[in-house]
Amino acid sequence: MSTLSGQSNTASLNVLVACEFSGTVREAFRALGHNAWSCDLLPSEIPGPHFHCDVRTVLATSSWDLLVAHPPCTHLAVSGARWFKGKEREQAEALEFVRELMNAPIERIAIENPVSVISSRIRKPDQIVQPFHFGDPYRKTTCLWLKNLPQLDRTSGMMTGDQKCWKEPPSPDRWKIRSRTYPGFAAAMALQWGGDARQAQEAA
Ligand SMILES: C[S@@+](CC[C@H](N)C(=O)[O-])C[C@H]1O[C@@H](n2cnc3c(N)ncnc32)[C@H](O)[C@@H]1O
Repeated sequence: MSTLSGQSNTASLNVLVACEFSGTVREAFRALGHNAWSCDLLPSEIPGPHFHCDVRTVLATSSWDLLVAHPPCTHLAVSGARWFKGKEREQAEALEFVRELMNAPIERIAIENPVSVISSRIRKPDQIVQPFHFGDPYRKTTCLWLKNLPQLDRTSGMMTGDQKCWKEPPSPDRWKIRSRTYPGFAAAMALQWGGDARQAQEAA
């Protein structure tokens, strides 16, 4: 079940997208013929295969080939450093969650987070990307910690983007709007880490 490549005719992978309510990365992998599932404490915003629970109960339950995880950055992101004081316990728990995801018994793992204390407390990221590298016209510095996965190649020559993320007006859904994965980034992950498995899926 597990051929890694950005090429066509690859095998279909069992993909777990942890901490995803939007379904964006899940659907990008499914569009290429992979058996992708999302998991979040929240329900999926769009219909599709989704575990509505703590992802830690799912990590070891199936033979996942690939984990893509978007753990919460509230107590980790350097942009929120002024709120760290007095939140040491929350930050320790958030780091422990990241460690559990990084150490999951899965062959290939990608953890995604903004610039955060993961770099100083666990290890430096393997790659830093921007949405505009993948055709989404925005700037949002995004770090990737990779296990057995190649760095992503850019899919767009776009030189910069708008800092939409910071301009989002206050609303109850502000955090959700700011945290949704951009579709070009999701498509790049699916093609470059999963490959096009549609023919394999049809033949099965
Ligand atoms: C930064 S958001 C990521 C959103 C994602 N990029 C998307 O497009 O849906 C982090 C998510 O992690 C979820 N989460 C937090 N702890 C979790 C856990 N133990 N198991 C599963 N999901 C969790 C939160 O509910 C939240 O939706």
